[in-house]
Amino acid sequence: MRFFIDTANLEEIRKAKGYGLIDGVTTNPSLFARESQDWRKLAEAICKEVDGPVSLEVIGTTAKEMVKEARDLIKYGPNVVVKIPMIMEGLAAIRELKAMDIPVNCTLIFTPMQALLAAKAGAAFVSPFVGRLDDILHTGLDAVADMVTIFDNYALDTEILVASVRNPLHIQEAALLGADVVTVPFKVLERIAKHPLTDLGLAAFLKDWEKAPGAKAAKKAAPAKRAAAKKAPAKKTAKK
Ligand code: G3P
Repeated sequence: MRFFIDTANLEEIRKAKGYGLIDGVTTNPSLFARESQDWRKLAEAICKEVDGPVSLEVIGTTAKEMVKEARDLIKYGPNVVVKIPMIMEGLAAIRELKAMDIPVNCTLIFTPMQALLAAKAGAAFVSPFVGRLDDILHTGLDAVADMVTIFDNYALDTEILVASVRNPLHIQEAALLGADVVTVPFKVLERIAKHPLTDLGLAAFLKDWEKAPGAKAAKKAAPAKRAAAKKAPAKKTAKK
């Protein structure tokens, strides 16, 4: 399963990239609204920073507007995937963009049927919003499970990109269901790695190591060796 980061914050993207945790980025208008930099500069910088797909969303609501915007958005980088909302006009836009070889991530998907329509129109990704479904007492991951079954039944190429992820369990369940991609906010990404037993275990190992025969002596010897190594080149320079 690939991990995308759901943010328009360059610092978060760089941090996650540093941990080797990024296969792509998803953004949306609300995420850009949280940043202080002009969205165009930011979009360009994000595309440069990341090797994988970067989703940039249109704000038009007619197929004509969406296609026009999509043609502009792809100029921000060779890895741009255009995010199109799941509305009837959006489906027409997806069809047109597919014919132009412009990859689309169909967003704001809440039912398996919406996902099927987007896949049939030619979307490269469909983004079911699991957290927002949970918010209104529908189990978001149930919709994802049905999407996986339907896409498998018809061997559809469209990838299921689980979005609106709020906690590590969403990610684990998405992985168990066989979703292709999950897009995760930075704070949730940090939480996946964390476990109190890992922290306790590490603290105990480090403490016990102090008692291991020879460990203290090895620790003391190391700085002395480093100091000696530092002095050596200084002498050489003085001779010249
Ligand atoms: O990128 C779209 C999606 O992930 C939004 O998440 O938390 O605003 O429902 P959220």
